[in-house]
Amino acid sequence: IEVEDFDLVVFGASGDLAHRKLLPALYHRDADGQMPEKARIICSARRDYTHDDFRDYAEKALKEHVKDLDDAHLKQFLARLYYVKIDIATAKGFEDLKTILEERPEVIRAFYLAVGPDLFGTISENLGRIGVVNSNSRVVMEKPIGKDGTSAKALNDTVGAVFAEDQIFRIDHYLGKETVQNLMALRFANALFEPLWNAAHIDHVQITVAESLGTGGRAGYYDTAGALRDMVQNHILQLLCLVAMEPPESMNADSVRDEKLKVLKALSPIDAQSADRLTVRGQYRAGASAGGAVPGYLEELGNNESRTETFVALKAEIANWRWAGVPFYLRTGKRLAQRVSEIVVQFQPIPHSIFDVEAGTITANRLIIRLQPDEGVQMQVMIKDPGPGGMRLRQVPLDMSFAEAFKVRNPDAYERLIMDVIRGNQTLFMRRDEVDAAWAWIDPILAAWAASKEAPKGYTAGTWGPSASIALVERDGRTWSEDDSE
Ligand code: BG6
Repeated sequence: IEVEDFDLVVFGASGDLAHRKLLPALYHRDADGQMPEKARIICSARRDYTHDDFRDYAEKALKEHVKDLDDAHLKQFLARLYYVKIDIATAKGFEDLKTILEERPEVIRAFYLAVGPDLFGTISENLGRIGVVNSNSRVVMEKPIGKDGTSAKALNDTVGAVFAEDQIFRIDHYLGKETVQNLMALRFANALFEPLWNAAHIDHVQITVAESLGTGGRAGYYDTAGALRDMVQNHILQLLCLVAMEPPESMNADSVRDEKLKVLKALSPIDAQSADRLTVRGQYRAGASAGGAVPGYLEELGNNESRTETFVALKAEIANWRWAGVPFYLRTGKRLAQRVSEIVVQFQPIPHSIFDVEAGTITANRLIIRLQPDEGVQMQVMIKDPGPGGMRLRQVPLDMSFAEAFKVRNPDAYERLIMDVIRGNQTLFMRRDEVDAAWAWIDPILAAWAASKEAPKGYTAGTWGPSASIALVERDGRTWSEDDSE
């Protein structure tokens, strides 16, 4: 479906995000016929480019990041791109942006801040000053939204002075991933799961977002953030909310966000007394990844003092009627054994077995929602082993791989989300109070770590993190899902 006519302004257009994600996503939406004929993408950065220079630059980015690039579509897309040189620090160039925007005063105007958060305030102020923000405008903010509750508030205040809350789109690209949206379809478009979706039937939930890459060229930013801020405060807590929230009234943005907010507020606090028991921090050491030797985090960073965690595992609890007593084990890290992101919902064991010991062990049912790679949903069930050999039980997956089932290109999260911005649909974006509530849970953990004398535990690159992470779940008589899947 086409959207209304728009001008999209991308700040930070020569940066990594625009290069890898935004330009490819916009190209695909255009190639799929979703862009109005006259829609423009106005790119801005500090470089001295002409419109054509920028088109050349964009063409290179697309050739690098889009499979099956089609010549006619490429041409059509490049013709939508415009370039305005802006130096945000000195505010030089904003007037040129105004000139170009005023050519089409009636269309939707979206401003995408693909820059560091230190520039969000200045850009918003300047947009306000030159008078290009109207009731048809929206702004998109990328994470990190602050480094704690206080800085997030300051940031939201400055942007909020120019844009109203219903014009602010705080992007969390995990919410745009197909399987994440599927989680809502699974829960609320099927009668099967919801009656079982509570502490009476679910033993625990695991959320893993494991990456095999290191911090790459982003070590400078990463070292100021660490895994808790980089992944847990946003992506992982958002996943947790979608698993744990009450059924919203509708898919309306505020209905969904009201329910997510309640989950965040119900998280049991982790503080200095409990942090040792409920959290594990790790930092990778030299090891092997994808068959090659890789250096440790400190060597990559060139700083031996850093205590930034590249791995975190947590045991979270949601103190409400639905979830009391059900642990949510969360973990994420760089340079782990595999790139895999999944949500594992482990049901309770059967209350009583009618089978004799020869039948084998009965493993509790498990629903696995795989975000990446190979997106899909799997339900682990027990069946009888085929054949005349008597009653022998076996666990098998009822498997639904989306790639196999649908044979369509899996759109990148940004494709969906950018179009939602144009449509003005905030369902998959974080509301200000959600960000605040997420920080309110994260801040005491950061404070406990800062006060602790212990450094993060080392783990060898290419493994599943420090052994303390395994102990965190084993202490409760459980295991991380990859440990017992073979
Ligand atoms: C980003 C983090 O938000 O998400 C990165 O800043 C991380 O550190 C990335 O690598 C992971 O995203 P994806 O879509 O590759 O799982």
